[in-house]
Amino acid sequence: MKLSSANINVMVKACRKASKIIIRDFGEIENLQVSLKGPGDFVTNCDKKVEKILIEELQKARPSYSILSEEIGKINNDESFKWIIDPIDGTANFLHGIPHFAISIGLEHNKEIICGIVYDPIKDEMFTAEKGNGSYINNKRMRVSSRSKLKDCIVFTGGPKRDAENRELALKEYNKFSLNVSVPIRKLGSAALDMAYVAAGRSDGFWQRNLNYWDIAAGIILVKEAGGFVTDFEGKNEYVQNKTILAANSKINQEMIEVLK
Ligand code: IPD
Ligand code: CA
Ligand code: CA
Repeated sequence: MKLSSANINVMVKACRKASKIIIRDFGEIENLQVSLKGPGDFVTNCDKKVEKILIEELQKARPSYSILSEEIGKINNDESFKWIIDPIDGTANFLHGIPHFAISIGLEHNKEIICGIVYDPIKDEMFTAEKGNGSYINNKRMRVSSRSKLKDCIVFTGGPKRDAENRELALKEYNKFSLNVSVPIRKLGSAALDMAYVAAGRSDGFWQRNLNYWDIAAGIILVKEAGGFVTDFEGKNEYVQNKTILAANSKINQEMIEVLK
């Protein structure tokens, strides 16, 4: 077992504390499903409570770091270090009582992600990675898959988003994979876990358009440190600006780019 760095330890501790709220509130969802009001506001509150705990814990340990977090936005401080937080990725699953969602925290240093953690509190799976130090699931080393032909793979995607243009583009992309390659496609509803599963070799590749940085910040380093490639749909390093992400094992990355063309 590898020794975790101080930053990973801080992130793990914050996740473990915040996940207690998620598990407790997830247990309440079933009761709320049947209430007239539905669980909508309750879930939004849960996102906020979880975010508050994460930020408190991270700030306690690293008071000078800046923060970008989905619900509250930016907290500007020392810009060379920045936490990128999604308190619950997979909110729609959470809302419907589907046990597949995660906390995602990335750490940027000079605009590069150097640490990442994605935690699935229901399955108690902690995915961690640090630059130059590999990717781990519950402290066990993980690697991307080694399948080399897309037709033998399983790939993930998400969305499409509500706006018509991107919806149409996303459907076209889906059809190309489904009709032209006949590769099985899964949509599990959490981009952070989609990336973590690519890193763990459970999925061979993942593509999606229109994601936000907090959905994928931690996933980027998980995949890279597990030996995978992360690019935009054209194979460039500009996924954040272009808002298209492709994460895959190094053998099918190029074939996925060809399909997306
Ligand atoms: C969403 C999830 C989902 C993806 C959406 C995201 P949220 O994040 O990552 O898998 O398809 O585009 O917005 O809203 O659950 O934090
Ligand atoms: Ca998200
Ligand atoms: Ca979220």
